[in-house]
Amino acid sequence: MRDPAIGEILVQADDLRRRVASIGEEISADYVGSDLVLVCVLKGAVLFLSDLMRNVSVPCELDFMAVASYGSATDSSGVVRILKDLDAAIEGRDVLIVEDIVDSGLTLSYLLSSLGARSPRTLEVCALLTKPTRRKVELPIRYVGFEIPDRFAIGYGLDHGERYRNLPYVAALKQE
Ligand code: IMP
Ligand code: MG
Repeated sequence: MRDPAIGEILVQADDLRRRVASIGEEISADYVGSDLVLVCVLKGAVLFLSDLMRNVSVPCELDFMAVASYGSATDSSGVVRILKDLDAAIEGRDVLIVEDIVDSGLTLSYLLSSLGARSPRTLEVCALLTKPTRRKVELPIRYVGFEIPDRFAIGYGLDHGERYRNLPYVAALKQE
C-alpha cells in the first residue's frame, strides 16, 4: 500500500531525468575551461547532484556542505549553522552551489554570503526546485529545474522528518 502521506505527484521521474540531463548539458557548455567545484548541500541535494554530475562533461570537483537552519519542521528561520564545511579552499575557483529547493531563500542567502566571503572567481546556484511565491529574499539562481506551487515537497532527496528521500519522484506531502 502506498504511504498515505504521499500526496499528488509534483514532478514525475521521467521529467526529473530529462530536465537534470539538460541542466547538466547547460553547465557543461557554460563552464568550458573553468576550475569548477560543485558544492552539494547535504542532505537534500544528494540525489540531484549524483544525477546531475553524470551529465556534466567538463572537469569538475565535488565538495559537500551541511547546514542546519533553525525553525519549525516546514519553515526555516534564516539563522543558519554550518554542520559540515567544505574540505577544500575555493578562492579563485568557479563554485556552483547545488541545492535541492529554494523556499524562503534564507538558507541560500546565508550560503552565498558565507562562500562569497572566501573570494571564489565565480559563485552561482543550481537549484532543482523553487517555490517562488514563498521567497523572502531575492536571489540570483542561474539554473532552476522546476518551479513548484506552495506545497511541502518530498522525494528525490527531499525529506519530511528524514523520510521519503528515496522516492524517485517529487510529491506533495499530504498534511492532516
Ligand atoms: P529556505 O531557507 O526557506 O529557502 O529553505 C531551504 C531549505 O529548507 C531547503 O534547502 C530544504 O532543505 C528545506 N525545504 C524547504 N522547502 C522544503 C520542502 O518543500 N520540502 C522539503 N524540504 C524543504
Ligand atoms: Mg537543503
